[in-house]
Amino acid sequence: MKIDKSDILSLLRDSKDYVSGQQLCDQFGVSRTAVWKVINQLKAEGYQIEAVSHKGYRLLESPDVLSRSEIASRLKTEWAGQQLYYLEETGSTNIDAKRYAEEGEPHGTTVVAEKQTAGRGRRGKYWESPPGSAIYMTIMLKPDFAPDKASMLTLVMALSVAEAITEATGLAAGIKWPNDVVVNKKKVCGILTELNVETDYIQYVVIGVGINVNNGSSEEFPEEIRETATSLKIESGVQMSRASLIERVLERFEKNYDIFVTTLDLRLLTEAYSRFLLNLNAEVCVLDPKGSYTGIARGINTTGELLVEKENGGTEAVYAGEVSVRGLYGYV
Ligand code: BTN
Repeated sequence: MKIDKSDILSLLRDSKDYVSGQQLCDQFGVSRTAVWKVINQLKAEGYQIEAVSHKGYRLLESPDVLSRSEIASRLKTEWAGQQLYYLEETGSTNIDAKRYAEEGEPHGTTVVAEKQTAGRGRRGKYWESPPGSAIYMTIMLKPDFAPDKASMLTLVMALSVAEAITEATGLAAGIKWPNDVVVNKKKVCGILTELNVETDYIQYVVIGVGINVNNGSSEEFPEEIRETATSLKIESGVQMSRASLIERVLERFEKNYDIFVTTLDLRLLTEAYSRFLLNLNAEVCVLDPKGSYTGIARGINTTGELLVEKENGGTEAVYAGEVSVRGLYGYV
C-alpha cells in the first residue's frame, strides 16, 4: 500500500495523543522507514512534529503552508474538493478549473494556487495575486440545471465564505450584495463565477474565490483598492492557517449547494444570506446603465435579486448581472 502524506497528517491532526510508529505502519501497511521518511518530509515543510521514544509522534503545530496534503488531510466533504489540485504558480485557477472540466474531471474538483500571474476579477479587472498570504481557489461544478439558475451560485458561495470567516475568526463578516464579502466595511473576498453553456444546458461552472487572509498591512494591496480592501489578519490581528479556511469554505459550500439544488432557488438560504447582508434596509445607489437611481434595499428575493424600494414608490428587483450597487456613503 502506498503511504500518503495527507493520510498521516490527518491521523496526527485528529489524534489528541501520540500516535505510535507501529500504529502508522499497521494502518498504512508500510515499513517504519517509509513512515519515518514521510515524517521527515513534513518536518522539512515546517510542521512541528514531536517524536518521543516508546510513545510515537505528535503534531504540535501546522505552519500556514498551502500544499495538497495540508488541504486534503483536513477535508471531510463528500464531493467538494475531493479531487484537488494544488499549484505553486499558475495564470488563473478559474482557467485551470475550466481545463480540468474539459478533461473530464468530476463535479467538485477544486484548484488552489499559491500565486496567480493572471488573476481575473469581475468586469474584466485584474486580480493581483502575490504568494504567501491569500487564498486563490476555484471550485468546478457540473450541475444538472438550466443556465439561468447559475447566477445564484455566486450568492451561495458568498454565503459560504461569510459563514466560514465568521466561524474561523469570530469577525463579523458581511456580504455586500451580491457577492463581495466584507469585514469592517472593507472587502476581504471577491468571487468570480464563469459558465460554459452548450445551447440550453450548463457544461460546467467555475466559481473562483480570492480571500485576503494573512496580508499584514494595507500597503500590500494595489493602490487603487487600498482604501476599500482589507485582510482577516489586519482586522483580527491574528495569523491563520489558509488551509483551514479553505476546508471550512468547501464544507460550508457543499452543504449550502446541496440545499440550493433541492429547490433550485435561494428560498431555503435567504434567511441565512440576509443575516450577512450589509445592504439590508440601507440606502443604495443602483448603477443601472439605463439610468442610476437611489432607494432602500429591502433584501433579496428567492432568485437572489436585490429588492430596492425606490424613492418615488415601487420596488425594483435588481439583477446582479446587469447593475452594481453602491452604498451612498462609501464602498458598502
Ligand atoms: C472580484 O473582482 O471581486 C472577483 C475576484 C475573484 C478572484 C479569484 S482568485 C481565484 C480565482 N481565479 C481568478 O483568476 N479569479 C478568481
